[in-house]
Amino acid sequence: MLKRAVVVGGSSGIGAALVRRLAREGYKVAAVARRQEILDDLCDEVNRDVESRRAWGFVHDVTDTEGAQACFDEICTTLDGLDLIVYTAGIMPIIDEDTYDSTLDRRTIEVNLIGAITWLNLAAERFKLQESGTIVGVGSVAGDRGRVGQPAYAASKAGLHTYMEALRNRLSKHGVTVITIKPGPTRTPMTREVDKMPLAIDASDSADGIFNAIARRSTTTYVPFVWWPIMTVIQAIPSVIFRRMGI
Ligand SMILES: NC(=O)c1ccc[n+]([C@@H]2O[C@H](COP(=O)([O-])OP(=O)(O)OC[C@H]3O[C@@H](n4cnc5c(N)ncnc54)[C@H](OP(=O)(O)O)[C@@H]3O)[C@@H](O)[C@H]2O)c1
Repeated sequence: MLKRAVVVGGSSGIGAALVRRLAREGYKVAAVARRQEILDDLCDEVNRDVESRRAWGFVHDVTDTEGAQACFDEICTTLDGLDLIVYTAGIMPIIDEDTYDSTLDRRTIEVNLIGAITWLNLAAERFKLQESGTIVGVGSVAGDRGRVGQPAYAASKAGLHTYMEALRNRLSKHGVTVITIKPGPTRTPMTREVDKMPLAIDASDSADGIFNAIARRSTTTYVPFVWWPIMTVIQAIPSVIFRRMGI
């Protein structure tokens, strides 16, 4: 039987690349996002040269937390079950260092963290009952320290990392794998206007890194791996020194 996956935030960038990779690996994949036309194009592309259908698009806004259960149930019915969920939906508003915009910050937390908790809770309940399944949350190296550039974005990702760890501690004894992905800078529509992208990779390389972490049943994975030693050093820098570095 084909494995079944849902990628929340699957219309673009890392999520769309992962939909393509999972379909190539023989998964049936549901891609969830707001933009119908883009989802349709992605599914057409994925389904074009395969014998049986591999990709389905589901239009949903993750800030509609009330509507998540119905969308999740519809996906499980369409795919005839679920083995894997990847939450990669996210926004990263580009703001300058003097901006304190609570509306924008709230939106960032709603999409990156509340949406993730809503969707991953639904999967957690289901996977615990079936005593199998893999849950993947896409965080960021930005969640490892509080840098001056994007306070709410960093907080949303730090919150997600902590939530993922707690989920892992709850579910590992029930046969469920919980994986935190921390991508470094990646060339996607999200980062089109970002000037400095050290060690940047393409979305397809990021999707390959996520797929490998799923195959290895990893816990926390930096993508690419080079960010693990870098962030280990950066996390060890005392706050008082980190502040003076102005990054
Ligand atoms: N690119 C990087 O350098 C980088 C680095 C570290 C971590 N990340 C993380 O990786 C993840 C993917 O980022 P990306 O670079 O691939 O960005 P992207 O190309 O902008 O893709 C973001 C995805 O999130 C979906 N999304 C956004 N708001 C949504 C909403 N309200 N409801 C449903 N879906 C929503 C978008 O779909 P619609 O617009 O169609 O709804 C899209 O599919 C994000 O969580 C990001 O924080 C990225």
